[in-house]
Amino acid sequence: MSSPTFPELAGRRAIVTGAATGIGRAIAVALSGQSVRVAICDIDAPAAAAAAAAVGVGAIAVAIDVRKRESVTTAFAEVEAAFGGYDILVANAGVSTMRPALDLTDDEWDYNFDVNARGIFLTNQIAARRFKSQGHGVIVNTASLAAKVGAPLLAHYSASKFAVLGWTQALARELAPLGLRVNAVCPGFVSTGMQEREVAWEAALRGVTPERVVDDYIAQTPLGRLEQPEDVADVAVFLCSNSARFMTGQGVNVTGGVYMT
Ligand SMILES: NC(=O)c1ccc[n+]([C@@H]2O[C@H](COP(=O)([O-])OP(=O)(O)OC[C@H]3O[C@@H](n4cnc5c(N)ncnc54)[C@H](O)[C@@H]3O)[C@@H](O)[C@H]2O)c1
Repeated sequence: MSSPTFPELAGRRAIVTGAATGIGRAIAVALSGQSVRVAICDIDAPAAAAAAAAVGVGAIAVAIDVRKRESVTTAFAEVEAAFGGYDILVANAGVSTMRPALDLTDDEWDYNFDVNARGIFLTNQIAARRFKSQGHGVIVNTASLAAKVGAPLLAHYSASKFAVLGWTQALARELAPLGLRVNAVCPGFVSTGMQEREVAWEAALRGVTPERVVDDYIAQTPLGRLEQPEDVADVAVFLCSNSARFMTGQGVNVTGGVYMT
């Protein structure tokens, strides 16, 4: 384990949702590298248990469905019981599907909004109530490049991620007088299971090869490669740290330059 860059984080306790894999898992690993105890909360309980074992020291796995208030309440209570409380929420769980807007079904719209938008609402609200009563705490939400600019074939996903930024800004304004910060990261084209699924869907919908889809992602990225989960994780950890003490309500682009404003 490398030396903590942010010593003030050592001994803190974090909830990371959607942490069994992908970006969430990388955030859990990066927080653990700062000597933060991490609760890996995910709907995929076996994968969460495997991730917790891999993260090691002090990490626990907790089953959660971020779409359901009762599940979030129970899961966060489980973390409190194990850790004696928590100081950091990284609300990262998210899903996507791909479809032309004119072919979208109600079910697809609801699924994306239930996980991506409602999941942020429920997890943020329950954690923020605790942070308010204890007088400290920090929230980082995972939004997206698609929260800044509408993405073709992802209208429903984009709309749900715009909702994440709207919520993040409003909550940040409400909690700022209490000294509580709320920010978001906006990743670009990140190599994860979600991207693998999207590449296959997009290739089929556009009638091109998966390799062509990936090449197009890279061509849109000034820094010239696919993003890695660790690229996002390092920024998420920074936003949790005191080095980001004067940042709140931000949707921080971590896209390799795909989007610059
Ligand atoms: N991969 C990308 O290119 C990319 C780009 C921008 C934003 N994002 C966002 O980053 C976040 C992580 O995405 P990823 O690429 O790591 O995806 P991923 O599919 O690899 O991981 C998502 C995790 O969320 C979990 N999850 C799904 N539904 C859940 C639910 N209802 N309750 C709890 N957990 C649930 C999954 O089991 C999985 O472990 C998402 O919010 C996604 O929208 C990803």
